Amino acid sequence: MKQTIVSGMRPTGKLHLGHYLGVIQNWVELQDKYDCYFFAADWHALTTKYDKTDDLRQNTLDVITDWLACGIDPEKSTIYVQSLVPEIAELNIYLGMITPQNWVERDPCLKDMAKILKTKEGQGSQINFGLMGYPVLMSADIMMLNADYIPVGIDQVAHIEITRDISRRFNNLYGEFFKEAQPLLNSCSLICGLDGNKMGKSFNNDIKISDTPEDTAKKVMTAITDRSRLRKDDLGHPDECEVAFKYWKIFGDDEEVQNVRCECEKGLRGCAQCKRQLGEKINSKLAQIREKRKYYETNPQEVEKIIQEGSAKTRIKAQEILAQVRKLVKMY
Ligand code: TRP
Ligand code: SF4
Repeated sequence: MKQTIVSGMRPTGKLHLGHYLGVIQNWVELQDKYDCYFFAADWHALTTKYDKTDDLRQNTLDVITDWLACGIDPEKSTIYVQSLVPEIAELNIYLGMITPQNWVERDPCLKDMAKILKTKEGQGSQINFGLMGYPVLMSADIMMLNADYIPVGIDQVAHIEITRDISRRFNNLYGEFFKEAQPLLNSCSLICGLDGNKMGKSFNNDIKISDTPEDTAKKVMTAITDRSRLRKDDLGHPDECEVAFKYWKIFGDDEEVQNVRCECEKGLRGCAQCKRQLGEKINSKLAQIREKRKYYETNPQEVEKIIQEGSAKTRIKAQEILAQVRKLVKMY
């Protein structure tokens, strides 16, 4: 029997290379070794975006389409949408009952989210009951499948700690049942945004998996280079080339990177030319993924089918666990 992995993402729209290199590539590799469940956390999206739900459905489809394009394989992994597994909401109730208020209040991830909210104007700035329940709902996601490992970024580890605390508390109160899920750290994303800051869609410095090759090439031309270099034949400093050379190291093979370094240092390579080549390189690395994405984009009914089947499969497992939970808690 393979061990179980669960991980989710809030459906915030089309994914960028930071998501691909930092998270999804990691998921793809886990698929063969584990029984994997990957889901779009649409309820979690509501914790802060309850007033902006017009795009929620499309965003969910976009995120899952990106996963499929990147190699999450529905034959190997189960792909589902959180809100299509209502058993999670019931488990969330039982877990909420046994979670002390101060456990969620001191959750550093939540504190960060609250800080960002407070900078907003008006209604959107308040912290609702649902947001306070974020780590409990996340625990329900994980415990619903009695998962062994949770691949997440370092920023999510505090949440997983709460999940482990809640599992332990449940087991103490009602009898040994839940595993204590462990985080599996995603290799944190090596790629920065085109401006050298963290890549993010709201910073307008990202390259999306779904971007066209033309848009990608244009974006790459804006990547920051060695700022001290004014003319093409000035000697360059690849290690001070803030973005472009870093991208070369991610996408180029060793020989190419050596060559870029040499030519740059000798002043034999202009930055514009260098970035034109880099754009081509990135496009060729993404070609297969984009082709696959096209396929799913033009066949959305297939994505829908994958979501429905994955959610139905997840519900069956969730119902088995929930039946045992109800018994242990001594519900009617
Ligand atoms: N909080 C996670 C994020 O923002 C998303 C998430 C929700 C999740 N439930 C989860 C991740 C359960 C792992 C397991 O990225
Ligand atoms: Fe960077 Fe290439 Fe310009 Fe050198 S030539 S500074 S590696 S963009």
